[in-house]
Amino acid sequence: MTGIYSRIIGTGSYLPEKVLTNKDLAASIETSDEWIRQRTGIRERHVAAEHESASDLALQASRRALEMAGIPAEKLDLIIVATTTPDMVFPGTACILQAKLGIKDMPAFDVQAVCSGFVYALATADQFMRSGQYEHILVVGAEVYSRILDWEDRGTCVLFGDGAGAVVLKRSSEPGILATRLHADGSHAGILSVPGSVSGGKIRGRPLLQMEGGAVFKFAVKVLEEVALETLSAAGLQKTDIDWLIPHQANIRIIQSTAKKLGMSMERVIVTVDRHANTSAASVPLALDEAVRDGRIRPGHHVMLEGVGGGFTWGAVLLKW
Ligand code: UT7
Repeated sequence: MTGIYSRIIGTGSYLPEKVLTNKDLAASIETSDEWIRQRTGIRERHVAAEHESASDLALQASRRALEMAGIPAEKLDLIIVATTTPDMVFPGTACILQAKLGIKDMPAFDVQAVCSGFVYALATADQFMRSGQYEHILVVGAEVYSRILDWEDRGTCVLFGDGAGAVVLKRSSEPGILATRLHADGSHAGILSVPGSVSGGKIRGRPLLQMEGGAVFKFAVKVLEEVALETLSAAGLQKTDIDWLIPHQANIRIIQSTAKKLGMSMERVIVTVDRHANTSAASVPLALDEAVRDGRIRPGHHVMLEGVGGGFTWGAVLLKW
């Protein structure tokens, strides 16, 4: 312990206006509201407008987080954006966001860890904070998955949505973030990927999301339990100390299995997958913002954030609110 901690002093989120229900999807592909709800818990998702990119969603979420934090954007010392659906190949979405916030000079970079992106970015920010060189850090998860879905593939297109969530961290002598743990295993890259790239002005490979749903499901349930226990142990805490679990919002069945393995009732789990679907790197900060603003998360509570996704990547952040 360095005696320097990161504390979240503001949260914010943004969902695009357009809502796409299961019924809407059933009008264009062979699926049903019943199948989607039973297998995933999803009822609807938000979809970005044609003119909206990841940085636009990130901008709205960041403004709200800064407003709650009560600091102007100029006070930020570092910006980290987690996204798998960046505005363009480069510059990074964090730099584009910085310009849209009307600020300059502080470092800004993207983290690409798919659905674990926000947890990766938050753990990264915490390391920067503990170096003692930074006082205020903006961490954002922003995604427009609607752009990388095959809307004719019922096995994947029903699962995802667009959105953004952000937090402002402040340096503090009181915790804050207690422990973080990150993992990756690239040998599982093939079960969840967008295997396309830009080459010579053309797209090489298929630039749309593909997934082996069953394999992803099993992997997620296994590692979400493991990494939660590992992170608790690093902080010297027990399962019973967790007040709120905020797992990546991919599928209600994955969330329920994780809660059961951790011996937690679903009353202590923050769930947004029903209304947001899987928003990848945005899912955890979107759920966090909701639970902070509606008063469920209160000072002194222990909150466990968990991510898992393509790579394969997974990780957890345990914090005291
Ligand atoms: O951030 C990580 C991202 N990904 C995930 O977390 C996804 C993890 N996996 C899952 O959530 C689940 O595996 C799915 C929801 C994707 C699939 O659920 P499942 O219970 O594993 O179903 P399944 O893939 O075994 O498919 C069962 C049946 C199949 O039909 P047959 O072959 O049994 O005749 C599918 O073709 O359901 C069919 N199916 C659908 N039917 C209606 C697949 N998608 C749909 C659909 N509507 N949208």
